[in-house]
Amino acid sequence: MSDILPPEQPLWKYVKEKAASVCDLYGYQPLNTPVIEDAGLFTHAVAGGTDIVDKEMYIFKDRGGQELALRPEGTAPVCRAYLEHGLFNLPQPVKLYYIGASFRYERPQAGRYRQHHQFGFEAIGDASPFLDAEIIEMAQRFLLSLGLRDFSIHLNSIGCRTCRPGYVSALKRYYASFEGELCPDCKARLERNPLRLLDCKKRHCQEIAEAAPRTTAFLCPDCLAHFESLQECLNILKTPFLLNHRLVRGLDYYTRTVFEVQPQEETSQGALGGGGRYDDLIEALGAKPTAGVGFAAGIERLISNLREQQVNVPPSPHITVFLASLGAEARKESLKLASVLRGAEIATMESAGNKSLKSQLKQANARGSSYTVILGEEEMKSRTAMLRDMKSGEQRLVPLSQVVATLRQTRALERGQSPGDT
Ligand code: HAM
Repeated sequence: MSDILPPEQPLWKYVKEKAASVCDLYGYQPLNTPVIEDAGLFTHAVAGGTDIVDKEMYIFKDRGGQELALRPEGTAPVCRAYLEHGLFNLPQPVKLYYIGASFRYERPQAGRYRQHHQFGFEAIGDASPFLDAEIIEMAQRFLLSLGLRDFSIHLNSIGCRTCRPGYVSALKRYYASFEGELCPDCKARLERNPLRLLDCKKRHCQEIAEAAPRTTAFLCPDCLAHFESLQECLNILKTPFLLNHRLVRGLDYYTRTVFEVQPQEETSQGALGGGGRYDDLIEALGAKPTAGVGFAAGIERLISNLREQQVNVPPSPHITVFLASLGAEARKESLKLASVLRGAEIATMESAGNKSLKSQLKQANARGSSYTVILGEEEMKSRTAMLRDMKSGEQRLVPLSQVVATLRQTRALERGQSPGDT
């Protein structure tokens, strides 16, 4: 779990702003859900047999004895909120997005944190493959809008409850002859969650998986038609994708479409994001069957890729004015002036304590201020202030009563506006 310090904040702000604007473009509305949920939500929705539920969930009892969990992901909470607030009464599909922390007790390693943040979006209440295509195109547009280039979209269909059992039996039959060669994790997967055999990262297991039966060869006619239509839509949208027959996901609620966004250089950091269709999830929560499809990206991984690809992000807004003061009287004047400047919407920082002018100017530089207003004993006597342009080093004396107007004017000139526009 990490602290996010001020120098990293511009990147976080940048990613969140791009996330919100892509959602505005596609008509997805924001939704916040609590960080803590009833643990049963995830055991029902995500299902036992997955690492995320069985091994990685932070579970605890509250003082009333209720079993709660820190959310390991965002889709199940969104579906709970959809049901709890009767969003099924709205015109369907309902399109929602969220940005927030998720918690997984994973083995810490590069790109894997116990608290990470996800930006996710979900379209609930419609089973059309056009919606899967919209979600995938939206994921791509979001990543491109960040300035990321080197990524690819992997796509697969894992069928539905009608056709998947036939596939799982075939997979088990295939793996039976390799049991002795599998890694210990895969041996356990053979019993607990055979689909996950396909995405083991161990080299020999990958070789075995490569020749395994493919999900797409077992799709029922409806799932096949859905998958073909989705690919046609993506081609119309000119959204490139790679068919990846070994793609399965770490959560058990998926039906039909699954997809992941992989960085081009497959690093140990793993996928930038992933998603898919979850047409049985809402039924598993006890409501009438309702289709859904969505995607979530990991913000930490996006930021690490932005750094690797050296994408320029806008710097944090700097302080325009720094007030340096020498002496008790000047300090009081500085207090008053700071309030007036902020009232005029000029970002202002005051120097605290009795520091030398040199150290105050150093602080002003460190915060990137454009101007320092120096209030010393002499200035107090003449009711003036020394205005220092931090870039050129030029200084000029202005009457105290004119400081705000002068700064406003200089700022307007810097921005190329006429002073009246400010
Ligand atoms: P997920 O693939 O488990 O899917 O997580 C989504 C993304 O969150 C991952 O691709 C990765 O970027 C990031 N992520 C996951 N775990 C960690 C971690 N321990 N540390 C850092 N980043 C991590 C879901 O959670 C689904 N709810 C996505 C979805 C939305 N499916 C349908 N709608």
